[in-house]
Order: sequence, then C-alpha cells, then structure tokens
Amino acid sequence: MSDQDYDLAQYVEDLRTITSEETDNKVILQRVSPLAKKFAASPGLIKDEYYACNVEQGYSLHLLHEDEDHGNAVFVIAWLPDHGTQAHNHKTWGVVVGMEGQEWETWWQRKDDGSTPGFAELELQTEHAVDPGQTSCVMPEDIHTVWNKTDAVSLSLHTYGKHINFTGRTEFDIAAKTEKTYVLAIE
Ligand SMILES: [Fe+2]
Repeated sequence: MSDQDYDLAQYVEDLRTITSEETDNKVILQRVSPLAKKFAASPGLIKDEYYACNVEQGYSLHLLHEDEDHGNAVFVIAWLPDHGTQAHNHKTWGVVVGMEGQEWETWWQRKDDGSTPGFAELELQTEHAVDPGQTSCVMPEDIHTVWNKTDAVSLSLHTYGKHINFTGRTEFDIAAKTEKTYVLAIE
C-alpha cells in the first residue's frame, strides 16, 4: 500500500488493532510510530483552516478522530510562531510527527517524588527539534514543553492512547514549582 492509499479510516483501524493486541506502552509506541509517520505524509491531510490558530491558547488542536471511549485520539496541531505550551505530561502514550515547519521540544526530569499536591520541581533534561517527517514519542509520565521557534505556523500530527482532555494530565509552572490539571480548547 502506498502512502497515497493510507487514509484516516485505515490508520484508525490499525490503531484499534494495535491497542487491542498490546498492553505495553513501549510496544504500542514502536508499532504506532511508523504508521503515524505514513499517515502524516498522506496527501490532502493539511487543510487551509488549520493555519488560523487559536491566538489565546497559542496553538490549535484539530480533532480528526477519537473512539467513543476517547481512545485512539488523532489531532493535527497548529502552532503559532513564538508560541507553545507550558511543561506538561499526557498521562497516556503519544506519537508526534512533524508535518510542516518545526516544533521545538524541551524535556524535563521531575526531581520531587510527587507526594506534595500541587508541588513539582523540574530539571532540564534535553532539547531537540521535530522537523517534517520526524517522530517523537512520549510515555504517560514524560514531561515536555513544545514551542514554535520559527516565524510561520507549524503543523504536526499527534496521536494519543486517549484524548488528552480526558486523562487527568497536568501542566507545570517551572519557576513557581507548581503542578495543576488543565484542559485544552479543541477546534
Ligand atoms: Fe505534549
């Protein structure tokens, strides 16, 4: 099958097969990653409306699919120039594929043991770019910041084990050493 033939319906079918067969998140990521890359390259995936970003949030999530139980969620995310996220986790596995432009990921190591509600101390671990066609995988407790350092809107494909507004994930204020749950605006 060429990339041309690999559409959303086939990708979702493959996600359902993988997540029904596997329980180990690392194995799921290994199997989903090449398929996400193939789907991200499929023609016609990018729509003009994706470039009109949510200015207040700094980025827009365009939901392509989620199962009835919020599983196997697929988004195109559009990032405004010089905007991005706070440090956050996902509380589910995730696969990111660069589509257009670039997203800059900063990874953080948690230093505290998480036993004090609302408190979190993070330390810089590593940074790297995600360029078109490159993949980046997150485990449920991984913490990263995403930023668009370019001067144009960047697009990336994000696939999660569960829609990230339903996982109870958290974001962090690194300077204030705080942690809180949050939900995102979905376009
Ligand atoms: Fe993320």
